[in-house]
Amino acid sequence: MNKYSNELINNFPEYLFNEINQKKIAARHSGKDIIDLGYGNPDLPTHDKVVEKLIETAKLKKNHKYSVSKGIFGLREAIAIKYEKNYQVNLDANSNVVNTIGSKEGLTHLLMSVLNPSDKVVVQDPSYPIHHFAPLIARAETIKVNCLEKSAFLTELNDILKKTKIKLLLISFPHNPTTLTVDQIFYDSLVELAEKYNFLIVNDFAYSDIYFEGNKPPSLLSSDKNLQHSVELYSLTKGYSMAGWRVGFAVGNADAVAAVTKLKSYIDYGTFQPIQIASTVALNELDEYPFELSTVYKERRELVVEHLKDLEFIVQESDATMFVWAKLPEKFHKDSLKFSLDILEKSNVALSPGVGFGKFGEGYIRIALVENKQRIRQAMKNIKAAL
Ligand SMILES: Cc1ncc(COP(=O)(O)O)c(C=O)c1O
Repeated sequence: MNKYSNELINNFPEYLFNEINQKKIAARHSGKDIIDLGYGNPDLPTHDKVVEKLIETAKLKKNHKYSVSKGIFGLREAIAIKYEKNYQVNLDANSNVVNTIGSKEGLTHLLMSVLNPSDKVVVQDPSYPIHHFAPLIARAETIKVNCLEKSAFLTELNDILKKTKIKLLLISFPHNPTTLTVDQIFYDSLVELAEKYNFLIVNDFAYSDIYFEGNKPPSLLSSDKNLQHSVELYSLTKGYSMAGWRVGFAVGNADAVAAVTKLKSYIDYGTFQPIQIASTVALNELDEYPFELSTVYKERRELVVEHLKDLEFIVQESDATMFVWAKLPEKFHKDSLKFSLDILEKSNVALSPGVGFGKFGEGYIRIALVENKQRIRQAMKNIKAAL
């Protein structure tokens, strides 16, 4: 117990990945070469053009001042143009867009600015950890819905809505960790529900641009063109390999965007202006770069899938994200944390146990495709030897 942290922070459960992270660090300190397929931290570089623009603009004194909390107009306009081009959604750069410090911060502050204490939020389980915690940070209550299978998710959601008033539905497709994708019809049915039961849908669209075989993931906003019930978190982290730059957006419903814009204006002065300018270049001039990155992830994915199938894992098919989600063979089925710890110790390969993403993730592992093919091949060989 920390005597200075408040009840909220004290009551946060121990991060399930901590145990594995600590073991990973200790193994590295003892000189082991750990192949890290655990942490979804992109290894591919940001495009040179973006880096060069950052350097050029960082040299200008006028860019050293506080920037604009909601993001410079050119950056907000760039994302509006992208939405028009990719999803035929008309965003007003002033009222439907705010720049965020990546999707994670945007999501958390969005929930803090639209939820009241005790409001109910439906959250996918398994899911990226902040999806479990952002509603709690906002003092709301979560209702976890198993999302291993899309139609079952919809059925359960319908059942909940008949009985319970919810304020917000938090989703993310393409999904981390399950790699599930959805089509426009899926979003159409969510928007219909939002209209009927009057709630806000928030889609964390962090994997919008990592997809294969031309199967472009749809935007939630295309199902809600009047932007009555929807907000999407868009990010440059994965699609443009700009994780450390911390650039994302909340786009969509004007009231929700105004709420988070207001909260952020009290908290910060906006991202360093050269980063915003360089990000504008990424959005305006580098449409092809996400395809190049996706090709690399696809090749890595094929390599991992081939090996895992040989080892009798049941692999989730997917045309998107930078992950592979796989069900453990029967004999390991009950304990994904133990399995991941064993693999780390015996094979020097770090994986993510499915249970770290929520109770319905138990029995699965997630492999992040963030090492090159040679190292992935080595990792698979090591795992095979250990099993
Ligand atoms: C679903 C999801 N949302 C958000 C993030 C973080 O994105 P950002 O860097 O834009 O905050 C991740 C990163 O792994 C993620 O998987």
